[in-house]
Amino acid sequence: MVLAMKVLVNGVGNIGTTLLQVLCTHRELLDIGAIYAHKATVRPWDVPQLERLKNLGVIIVGSEFPGQARLSEVADRIDYVFDAGQSGLGVSRRESYDGFRSLVGASAQGTESAFGTPYVVGLGMDVSTARYVHIPSCNTHSALAVLRTLSDGDFDDIVAADFVVARRCEDVGNHDRLVAGNVLARHLDPVLGTHHAIDADAVLAVLGKQVPIQSSDITTPSQFLHATRFSVQLASAPTEEQVRDRISRAPYVATTQIFDSNKVFEIGRRFGLGGRLYNQAIFADGNLLVKGHTVSGWAMVPQEGNTILSTLAAYLQQTHSVDDARAALDELAESLLLGEL
Ligand SMILES: NC(=O)c1ccc[n+]([C@@H]2O[C@H](COP(=O)([O-])OP(=O)(O)OC[C@H]3O[C@@H](n4cnc5c(N)ncnc54)[C@H](OP(=O)(O)O)[C@@H]3O)[C@@H](O)[C@H]2O)c1
Repeated sequence: MVLAMKVLVNGVGNIGTTLLQVLCTHRELLDIGAIYAHKATVRPWDVPQLERLKNLGVIIVGSEFPGQARLSEVADRIDYVFDAGQSGLGVSRRESYDGFRSLVGASAQGTESAFGTPYVVGLGMDVSTARYVHIPSCNTHSALAVLRTLSDGDFDDIVAADFVVARRCEDVGNHDRLVAGNVLARHLDPVLGTHHAIDADAVLAVLGKQVPIQSSDITTPSQFLHATRFSVQLASAPTEEQVRDRISRAPYVATTQIFDSNKVFEIGRRFGLGGRLYNQAIFADGNLLVKGHTVSGWAMVPQEGNTILSTLAAYLQQTHSVDDARAALDELAESLLLGEL
């Protein structure tokens, strides 16, 4: 079998490394012939990690890694780019991707909303004709997953929704943005609030939906998972039993009876590929408030993995037929997602 696609992960950080591990593990399923990874800055302590990725079959490129090709030397071979650079890098590098002669498509993460068409898996979105795709942030994924789940996929049933995102201050392996207290985020939009609702609103607009949502954000002195407190008003006023049934049937979400984010994080470390959790949101089971038209509760947000399935679903749609993309995504989801935690 000849595997077709030559892909590049641009940026070997947190998301880039997770993505590389999934690409290496599921290479055949994703129809990938060659995996390139570009690391712009190589510090001495990055070398063993890059060697490990090389041993998995990744071709490292970049002028700072001794003996490797430069990105410009392999650019014309690349069919697809996963940009996994820090804030601002994806958008600034997009123009250079236009010059890649074989390029079929590319995606960028989180902050890079100007990069292309937004895409979140599970909402019936189609990016098969889009060249550039934006994968919204982890908290935007969780907010949309909560709305999709509680409304049973009928966004027109949502009367109003409010989210308070309790953010872990930074990735567990970093030490640049640790905070000592609870730090509030500025509301960037007078109606929507923080970027989470702003980004979710942009995704819903692509679906032709306008849902009255609002978000706020508080960063906490923790490095173990974000959590979101949601309060969603539904015209249909479902019973608690109906809400539980919706949660149990919804794809890409999970439930847990654990209330501590460090313990949920630990399950990802033990059982998730690369130590990550790939579910979009993890509902705190047995802790729902269902009263009249309003459903409130908590969900934990596996920030370092919950955008990966969207990233790969978009890649599959952009590069393969509808049926092949669907079949590969289902198999990938089956392998990566955990059920009850
Ligand atoms: N971490 C999460 O949980 C998460 C979740 C959803 C979305 N995202 C989004 O994914 C993207 C990547 O996030 P990440 O957590 O993977 O980022 P990261 O590990 O902090 O950095 C990613 C890459 O950006 C480059 N970089 C980092 N600091 C830099 C600096 N000071 N100057 C120049 N380049 C720098 C490096 O590229 P090289 O490797 O090429 O040197 C690094 O590997 C962001 O847009 C973020 O919003 C992150």
